[in-house]
Amino acid sequence: MHFRTSIDNRIQQVKMPENLAVGMMVRAQREKCQDLQCPFDYYSFAFGESPFQVPRELSQALADHSTTGGYTEPGGIEQLKSAAADFYNRYFGLNVEAERMIIGPGTKSLFYMVFSMLAGEYIIPVPSWIGYTPQLDLLGRKWHTLELLSENQYKLQPMQLEQFLDAHPGTAFTLILNNPHNPTGQVYSEGELEALAAVCRSYRVAVLSDEIYALTTYDFCNYSSMAALYPEGTLLTGGLSKDRSSGGYRLGVLVLPEECPEELRFGLEKIAATIYTNVTTPIQHAAITAYSESSGNDRYLHTTRSIHKLIGQKLSERFANIPGIKTTRPNGGFYFLTDFNEFKENMLKKGINSANELGKALIAHPHHIAVVTGDALVVPPDNYSARIAFVDYDGPTAYEEYLSNPPVTEKDKEIFFTNHASRMLEGAEALEQFIGKLS
Ligand SMILES: Cc1ncc(COP(=O)(O)O)c(C=O)c1O
Repeated sequence: MHFRTSIDNRIQQVKMPENLAVGMMVRAQREKCQDLQCPFDYYSFAFGESPFQVPRELSQALADHSTTGGYTEPGGIEQLKSAAADFYNRYFGLNVEAERMIIGPGTKSLFYMVFSMLAGEYIIPVPSWIGYTPQLDLLGRKWHTLELLSENQYKLQPMQLEQFLDAHPGTAFTLILNNPHNPTGQVYSEGELEALAAVCRSYRVAVLSDEIYALTTYDFCNYSSMAALYPEGTLLTGGLSKDRSSGGYRLGVLVLPEECPEELRFGLEKIAATIYTNVTTPIQHAAITAYSESSGNDRYLHTTRSIHKLIGQKLSERFANIPGIKTTRPNGGFYFLTDFNEFKENMLKKGINSANELGKALIAHPHHIAVVTGDALVVPPDNYSARIAFVDYDGPTAYEEYLSNPPVTEKDKEIFFTNHASRMLEGAEALEQFIGKLS
């Protein structure tokens, strides 16, 4: 290197975010397979990206605002904050005004801003999405994990939280709660959230409620937001990435707690102004459409969540039928968790010594199955679980077909599933063969 300045080695301690890790794993595999002259690509269960098109109204609104090029307020334009506040009041039963909203470039950036502002320590129920811990590490924040157990449907138990808090008196904590949950697809009921809220209220724990998948909840009529049940202590995040298939738009929303100290609100705006100035102006204007009351929005959300439900639940059943494998049944989002721990002994015998090794063995020739495991789920190396994303199908075609000819009977649903999920069904077969070799 020509310059004398060294590179700060903090980044080396930071775990690889899954989008980067999965991309690198797949690239390495492709190179290896080219050597073997293998033409097959891979079964894609790793990337968590909605397969549908950006809603037409949203992409049209973006085109209409392509010439709106000025800077905006760092925390977001007033019309968008107010449309988003109305949206959250309407769909999530909140009671917020525009002043409590901060618009950011995706929720990932909003997390980083919140983690920068909230001192103290963090609690992360695991398995978890990998996004939080690298950011906390970068900021030097201390974090603890609480294990989610299959016998509790991978949901944090109030008693478990209370015991942890009792064991750490005098420490200020922020609980990161992800609902619906990536990677298990589980959704907390109102009663379950109330019980957690009661513990958080009595120990004065802040909750960062990551509800990016909320609008994909299959039974959305019964969805409850932590921000409605614990408004004084919850920082709620959401955005367009998952339910509008618009991850690349980078539009996230943070709802601040009731009676939020001005110091926190202003501090977040200050970070926004310091780092990125404002979310891209045309995107902010377009997003007003996504947060407005319209039959188009309702149709899009209803149709996409119905397809996620049909495909996710049927595919999880298919996986659950593989002898020795346990899976969760998703109720929201587009993931379920697969538990391979039954085969631990056999895997160790074959040199698959950790959950990360399992990920490598699955992607290796001839299996070619890409999943997310181990570090990327924030679980210990001896927890042989994998996250299965069920989005590898032609979303636009499935969407049009579902709208024009919605499957009603069980038989219709089965036909829809086998027609659209054929690649993933082949992947399930490849997994069954992999398991067959282990048994
Ligand atoms: C649980 C969870 N939270 C947040 C995000 C990030 O969303 P955004 O695109 O808003 O940064 C993801 C993306 O995969 C996620 O799975």
